[in-house]
Order: sequence, then structure tokens, then C-alpha cells
Amino acid sequence: MATPLVGTAIITGGDGNLGSEIAVAIARKQPLIHILVLVRDLSSLSVRQVSQKVRMVGPRSFEIARVDLNSFSSVITFAEHTIRRVRDRDIPPVAVLVNCAATYSHILDPKTVDGYDPVYQTNCLSPFLLTISLLESFRASKRTGTVGAHAINVGCSNMSHGRLDFFQAGWEAGRKEDIELDDKEALQRYGSSKLLLSATMYALRRSLVSSGNIPINISTFDPGSISSKANRPHKSTSSSPERPNFLNPLHRFRQKRSINAVTVSANAIADTAFRPMSMRALEIERYHIVGKEYEASSVVNVLRDQKQMNNMLNMALVHTRIGTGTPTNSSAATSPSMRSNETMVNARIRAETRRNSSATTSPSMRPDERRVK
Ligand SMILES: NC(=O)c1ccc[n+]([C@@H]2O[C@H](COP(=O)([O-])OP(=O)(O)OC[C@H]3O[C@@H](n4cnc5c(N)ncnc54)[C@H](OP(=O)(O)O)[C@@H]3O)[C@@H](O)[C@H]2O)c1
Repeated sequence: MATPLVGTAIITGGDGNLGSEIAVAIARKQPLIHILVLVRDLSSLSVRQVSQKVRMVGPRSFEIARVDLNSFSSVITFAEHTIRRVRDRDIPPVAVLVNCAATYSHILDPKTVDGYDPVYQTNCLSPFLLTISLLESFRASKRTGTVGAHAINVGCSNMSHGRLDFFQAGWEAGRKEDIELDDKEALQRYGSSKLLLSATMYALRRSLVSSGNIPINISTFDPGSISSKANRPHKSTSSSPERPNFLNPLHRFRQKRSINAVTVSANAIADTAFRPMSMRALEIERYHIVGKEYEASSVVNVLRDQKQMNNMLNMALVHTRIGTGTPTNSSAATSPSMRSNETMVNARIRAETRRNSSATTSPSMRPDERRVK
């Protein structure tokens, strides 16, 4: 009889340079994991390539699904379908979610169908929505006493150029769509989306841990500057014309690093995603930079400001329509409607995680400058 699968790993941007290598690394290291790669265009050459590469590793439980992060309904449809499949035991519970997909654009793009800047929606709002929408499908940890599931957000040193209020500050106001942005502004926009992703997901993590019984660890992994060992030829899209390697960081953050082979970063992410972690270890918020662990608030400073973290969480909940209310024009402000929604939102998170409830502690979240390892 075949050994049963022990979990599912979902990778967004699974046909991208890094995402495809993460899929291959997980296939090599975790033969009992069902690999579910998410892509935007099922018919693309890069999808065929990642599929071939994973299958060459050996017989694996592997599939590819379509999700467009520019559309909340696409994200929710996928998440609901996945939850149903986990309930029906069609696939094992989700052990790992890697939010790897991202976009960079130096064009003032039209808004998405949901009314947001596509860079903000793809890089921040949709990964947040995907993670919350999948909560019920995450692997519980009742029996093992270890954290059942990991959500890893692929970060980027360019977040040092970001601002928390960038997408609230009316940066596009009065300007025509499709105009070209200068490098500085494009970088600030991208960096802001990455900063917000990271901070908002740590805020979600705190909320899950403080509401108790949530066996999922959420962290950011900055892969460093990675080489384009192209899984696919560079695609020139309307939002990234004539600029190859568009996700390469232009500036280094915190420390000088050389360019890593993409496989090095992919292997490090695969190792981190499956490293067993005791429930007690949830006390520390971790930020990974190319395989080294740091206490997250020493990298993402806003983590020291709990009030602002709450505001950001509420803002993301409202923007992704999980919470109701009208988004405000300042990330620092909390509208009365958002405040009144807080209870409802927390109830929603609790409801999403009901099935996962198991014994965890409710750790304190004291910021600490030290490197964790
Ligand atoms: N490259 C670097 O040096 C570097 C450094 C630090 C961090 N990173 C981070 O690493 C991650 C992967 O970067 P990469 O270099 O591998 O870039 P990449 O090859 O361009 O991959 C990006 C992936 O995201 C997908 N994507 C973009 N918009 C999407 C949408 N709306 N819906 C669904 N999928 C979408 C792309 O799919 P399509 O092909 O359909 O657009 C592609 O699969 C990113 O989070 C990036 O910020 C990269």
C-alpha cells in the first residue's frame, strides 16, 4: 500500500523564477507532500516547464491550478474549492503556503476589477486574503505538539524604500493611466507593497496567536538577490516593458549580499517551510534573510507599534472585504466603522480557524533585537 500523503504545499507564482524552484525543492525534499502550484496562465510555456521539472524529480503528487491575484473572486474561489477538497480528503490539509507571486510595474496601471492598484493587490492584499481564506484548510497540530502549518511570505529588501501609507496617500491622484513612473516612484510603490505584506501578515499572525489555538506560523523570507536561472524566458508584459529582471532589488538592505543562485534561496525556503517547530517557538516572530533568522521587529520596525499593527490588520481586512466598512485615506487612522467592525472581524478569524483549534499557548510578543539563530 502506498504511504499516505502528509500535507499539501501551495506555492503562488509557481511558474516564476523562484516559485518554480521552490516547487522543485519541495518535490526533492518532501516526497509525501502534495504540491499545488498556482499560476496565472495555465497555457504558458513556463507552466509546462515547471511541470516537467517537478515530474523529473520522480513520481510525485503534483498539480497546477489557476489563480489570478488581481481578482479577489479568483482567490476566494480557489480557497473555497481547496477547503472542500481537504474536507472531502481529496487532498491532505495544507502544511505550507508560500506567497511567492509578485509584480513590479513602472506604469500607472488601470485599477483591478476590485478597484486597487495591481501592485498593491497582487503583492499584498491577495496573499493576505488567500492566507485567511485558507485558514480552515491548514493542518492542525493536535497530535504532534508542533506547529502544524507554515505560511511564508516572500519578502524583499526593497521594502526599505516602502511607506506604510503609500497606497492610501493618493499617489495616483490627478494623473493619467498608463503614464510611465520614474524608477524611484516605481521602487517605492513596489517596496511599499512588500512592506505592507510583511507587516500585515505579522499583524494577522499576532491576531491568530492571541485569539488562541492557531497552529500556524507566519513569517517573511527575503531570498536576497537571486539569479534568473530562467524557468521561463522573460516575459514583457504591459506592466513591465523592456525591463528584465524586474523583481531584482536595486539596492541592498541591512547588509551587502551577493547574488544567490535561485536554487539556494529555493532550498532555504523549502527547509524553513518544513522545519518542525514547537508551539512554544511561536513566541518569537521570525524574519528570514537568505537562511538566517532575525527577530522580525528588528527588521520591520512597525511591529513595535501594536496600535498601528491593529490598524493595518483592520485596513487589510476592510480592503479585502473580509471586514466591512469604508477604507480610510490614512493607514494611521482608524475609522469608526472599522473600529466597530473589530469584534466582527476577530469573530470571523475565530470562525475561520474553528476547525483548527488545538492546544497552544498564548505567547507574549515582546520585541527583541537579537538574531534568533
Ligand atoms: N528576483 C529577485 O532577485 C528577488 C529578490 C528578492 C525578492 N524577490 C521576490 O521573489 C518572488 C519571486 O520573484 P521572481 O524573481 O521569481 O519573479 P518572477 O519570475 O517574475 O515571478 C513572479 C511570479 O508571480 C506571478 N504573478 C504576478 N502577478 C500575478 C497575478 N496577478 N496573479 C498570479 N500570479 C502572478 C507571475 O506570473 P505571470 O508570469 O503570469 O506574471 C510569476 O509566476 C517575489 O515575491 C519577489 O518579490 C525576488
